[in-house]
Amino acid sequence: MGQSKKVHSSAALQLCNPAAVNLCPIAVFDSGVGGLSVLRHIRAELPHEQLIYLADQANVPYGSRSLAEIQAFSEGITHFLLQLNAKLVVVACNTASGAALTHLRQTFPDVPFVGMEPAVKPAAAQTKRGKVGVLATAGTFQSQRYEALMARFAQGVLVFEDSCQGLVALIENGQTKSAETERLLRACVEPMLAKGVDTLVLGCTHYPFVRPLLTKIVGPDVTIIDPAPAVARQIKRVLQQRGLSAPAGKMRVVRAFTTGEAGRLAGFARQMLTSPLAVETAVWQNDKLYTR
Ligand code: DGL
Repeated sequence: MGQSKKVHSSAALQLCNPAAVNLCPIAVFDSGVGGLSVLRHIRAELPHEQLIYLADQANVPYGSRSLAEIQAFSEGITHFLLQLNAKLVVVACNTASGAALTHLRQTFPDVPFVGMEPAVKPAAAQTKRGKVGVLATAGTFQSQRYEALMARFAQGVLVFEDSCQGLVALIENGQTKSAETERLLRACVEPMLAKGVDTLVLGCTHYPFVRPLLTKIVGPDVTIIDPAPAVARQIKRVLQQRGLSAPAGKMRVVRAFTTGEAGRLAGFARQMLTSPLAVETAVWQNDKLYTR
């Protein structure tokens, strides 16, 4: 599909009503359940904001897909979220941020986007031995954004990378504590530990869901960094700077969609989140998403 030349102004889209823009939702998307690990921090940081979550489970995993595919998915999803009046879009996926964030900002110049990136900067600042491990998808490691991040912040630090092939699929299946997941995690992380890594970056939003298992494997001396709390604070700052924050009031609901099976996403949320999620289905048709 390649780089799209289309540019969408807010006037051309059914964007948030300008008179009540503060009341419009923040939209969060990921290839699957991973973005829920970001959503829970957004919920904690911004309890008065209404949230929309979209999991593209018909197309998960994104990690092994082409740049063009991920850009097309991200563009279709953004369209869908803007039709639902999103005032800000969170790309709660490192892989989609690496492949499509620049493309999205060019395509939707009026829309505020917040993306994810592996927390190499804080890891490089914190490591005592100068050895950092990064767990992310193959797509994230191959992205220009990651290359730029490394060039900027990882000078003088040894970085060990692993894409933990198959881990996203296990987490999507709800296997956050299984023996198979533990075996896979050990295979990714133990070689890094043997090299003396003392700081580990969770560079995929699915991975915080296996953090308890990871902590058991790496022990108390290795610092694990999940950028989600910092991303939630960044969203708060962007809303404040643009005058888009919702007024304080009652706790707002989350509206969730999946392009896969609604029951599966709801089941995962029941297992991993503190409050249940009512999930609706969205359907892809010719690069566009529709509610069922
Ligand atoms: N959750 C996504 C990320 O943060 C990737 C999972 C996938 O491969 O789809 O990179």
